[in-house]
Amino acid sequence: MDFGLKNRLSKIFNPKTGKTVMLAVDHGYFQGPTTGLRDMKNITPLIPNADCLFVTRGILRNCIDPKTETSICLRVSGGPSILGELSNEDIIVSMEEAVRLNASGVGMSIFVGASNEDRTISNLGQLVNEAERYGMPVLAITAVGKEMVRDARYLGLACRMAAEIGAHFVKTYYCDDFHKVVEGCPVPIVIAGGKKIPEMDALLMTENAIKAGAKGVDMGRNIFQSDSPIGMIKAVKAIVHKGATAQEAYEIYQKSKKSSAVEIADAGMEKV
Ligand code: R5P
Repeated sequence: MDFGLKNRLSKIFNPKTGKTVMLAVDHGYFQGPTTGLRDMKNITPLIPNADCLFVTRGILRNCIDPKTETSICLRVSGGPSILGELSNEDIIVSMEEAVRLNASGVGMSIFVGASNEDRTISNLGQLVNEAERYGMPVLAITAVGKEMVRDARYLGLACRMAAEIGAHFVKTYYCDDFHKVVEGCPVPIVIAGGKKIPEMDALLMTENAIKAGAKGVDMGRNIFQSDSPIGMIKAVKAIVHKGATAQEAYEIYQKSKKSSAVEIADAGMEKV
């Protein structure tokens, strides 16, 4: 691995802990104005709490302060919307653009076991070929086919394939026996949060994933759709970087939620 690639990875994975809190806000690329991301200003206060922002170029150019110290991992695949066949993706952002936007990584989805499986795997191989010419790390995201079960066997297959094709790190879902997914994958794994679940459940999932060997999260809805997004990102950060338990992290979330309620009341504002 050359200096550039290692240096970029160190902007994503905190060198002090070897782990990362990535904030995923790319959902609009196929879902449109997702709840919590309708107004992208909502995520501005969250960004300094993340090691890395997973984002599309359109949102990056239009909504993110270029002075941010948080690194950028750019979603470079796309095509279909939620109304179409999600696996029908191609690479839609050039490597030159990723470099111009000062990305520290690029990410794309693969659809193992779904239609277009072979094309998305081939796209990953080509993306890695090109990215390595620029020292750019590639994140492969193991999307799940409609009829696929999110279990260790399936996710283990998808993550291992991503690593074999050359991805430098992989994003997948948490599942029972997650340690088996980690053991079978020679590159770091981060977990997506998935659909919004109660805060304590999301924190327990994070704690279990880290204990099973995940190197962090690339989490979206369970942060930005929380009733205290700041509280949640701080709580997740405590688990990932400080080894806090879910219970300790939940206290951080609750404290932050209470103090923002007090600030709102003090300012005589209504909570929206
Ligand atoms: C989905 O395709 C996107 O890649 C999201 O970045 C990913 O699912 C993580 O977001 P969430 O935690 O909301 O699942």
